Formats: sequence, C-alpha cells, structure tokens
Amino acid sequence: MEQAFDITLTVNGTPVARRVEARQHLVDFLREELGLTGSHVACEHGVCGACTVRVNGEIVRGCLMLAVQANGCRVDTVEGLSDSKELEKLQKAFHERNALQCGFCTPGMLMAAQDLINKKTKVSREEIRAHISGNYCRCTGYQAIVDAIEEVIQMEAARG
Ligand code: FES
Ligand code: FES
Repeated sequence: MEQAFDITLTVNGTPVARRVEARQHLVDFLREELGLTGSHVACEHGVCGACTVRVNGEIVRGCLMLAVQANGCRVDTVEGLSDSKELEKLQKAFHERNALQCGFCTPGMLMAAQDLINKKTKVSREEIRAHISGNYCRCTGYQAIVDAIEEVIQMEAARG
C-alpha cells in the first residue's frame, strides 16, 4: 500500500490542499489532480524540459520533484503565467516568429525563457542558447526560438 501525505500549496495564486501518494511527481499532480495539462511530460527523467514549472520563483523539472516536496510552496505553471499576462510578450514573439510548430515543447520553453527575461536585461544569443539548452525542441531548429527570446529581452531593455 502506497503511503500518502496531506499537502497544502499555492498553485497559480490559488490555495490547494490534497492527499497525494508519496511517489507522485509534481507534474503528474498538476496534470492529473488539478487538470493543469499545460506542463507536458515526455522523458520523465529531467532531460527534455517539457515539464518545466516554477516553484518559489525558480524553474524546476516537474518530473524530478515529488508533489510532497512542494508542500508549503508557491507553484506557478504556464497557465498561471499566461493568465497573469507575464508571458504575453513572449507568446506574441513566438507566434510572430514561428518559434513553434507542434507546440509540445512550447510551455516548457516559455517557462525557461521567461526565467531568463526576468533575470537578465542584456544577453548574447549564446547565453540564450545556454539557458534553453535543457529544453528540447524536435521541430524548429531553435533559431526562431532564440530570435523570439532575444526580441523580448531587447524590448524590455529598451523600456529600461
Ligand atoms: S519530462 Fe521532465 S524533463 Fe522531460
Ligand atoms: S515545436 Fe515541436 S517540439 Fe518544439
């Protein structure tokens, strides 16, 4: 019999209380218990970045963190950042520059890219590539993704 724990956390600004199995991963909890299916699951061992979410302000792999480890934490997903409009400029730039095709990698890519935008006002293309190097895209060849991220960072820098 799997051990279960009661957890409370804040997901996209909303308090959540649930009983979870000890081995349930955070991304599975978000998808299956809360219906937040924007965070995707692919490799399930921390390689592809499809499951990227934010925990207490830092991006993490949702497939490498257990739901019980998020007890007491603030978790933000691509749905939350989209609703709050934090991702608005990036989403627009991705759309305009065709930085997505199948879209499977896109939620994780947006989460990683926004993390860089929030932390840096000036970056080289190499730094952008390094920052998203843990997020795999099988479709685009990355060029348009880097273009989109660079555009938003330059836009933000111009605003001061
Ligand atoms: S599904 Fe988590 S890194 Fe690939
Ligand atoms: S757009 Fe298809 S995997 Fe990135």
